[in-house]
Amino acid sequence: MTIASWLTNSRKTVVLTGAGMSTESGLPDFRSPRTGLWARFNPSELATVDALHHRHESFVEFYQYRIRTLQQCQPHNGHRLLADWEQRGIVRTIVTQNVDGFHQQAGSQCVIELHGSLRTVHCQQCGQKQPSHVYLHGVLTCECGGVLRPSVVLFGEPLPERTITQAWEEARQADLFLVLGSSLQVSPANQLPFVAKQNGAKLVIINWEPTELDHLADAVIHQRKIGEVLKEIDQQLTEGAP
Ligand code: APR
Repeated sequence: MTIASWLTNSRKTVVLTGAGMSTESGLPDFRSPRTGLWARFNPSELATVDALHHRHESFVEFYQYRIRTLQQCQPHNGHRLLADWEQRGIVRTIVTQNVDGFHQQAGSQCVIELHGSLRTVHCQQCGQKQPSHVYLHGVLTCECGGVLRPSVVLFGEPLPERTITQAWEEARQADLFLVLGSSLQVSPANQLPFVAKQNGAKLVIINWEPTELDHLADAVIHQRKIGEVLKEIDQQLTEGAP
């Protein structure tokens, strides 16, 4: 049986994506050696609530850098294929750890953003949201006087309860669970493959490096670019994989 035939025969396919899904768009991931964001910046110094409150200037600079980088990048063909598979009823839901909004931009409708979105900033006081480009123009406070912050989950912050519940339910109901481009090192996202597996799903992991959950998977593909693998699977789907 191939991954394409599992996709064809699946009742409910759920996809978990990580930063490896967007490197072919030009966005760095976090833990790739040398090129990963955490190889160049210290997350505990910059991507925490403590940094937001007590190292505000470096926090702002770091997120201005990330927002600026995001503005220079676009979804790639892999994002568009996943959106097309949703259209064709092959994929039901994408649960993403990414904050780039590329799945929605590529046309995916059912997307759960576990770690929020870098597309907006919001006021810590009144909650009002604004497009994140305002952060680049030095707009750091809200009209109400509150401090603006990127709408991403910072290290040490809990994920919104509703988001976790939704993601858990999707993983629980999946009969095929695809992991694309994640090192699966961050909780609670890295619990989702377990939840799917415990409920009888097949697990497929497509990731350049080995992950700690490879032993659980029914199929693992390493050292292949996600964009290329998805393209090959799509060709098999089109040819009508047995
Ligand atoms: N094709 C296949 N795999 C790739 C590609 C690619 N083109 N590019 C990168 N990868 C793999 C890397 O080998 C790496 O193992 O994607 C994985 C990305 O892992 P991380 O950088 O750890 O990203 P992710 O798993 O999404 O991190 C989870 O950690 O820092 C937090 O909030 C951040 O959401 C992020 C979370």
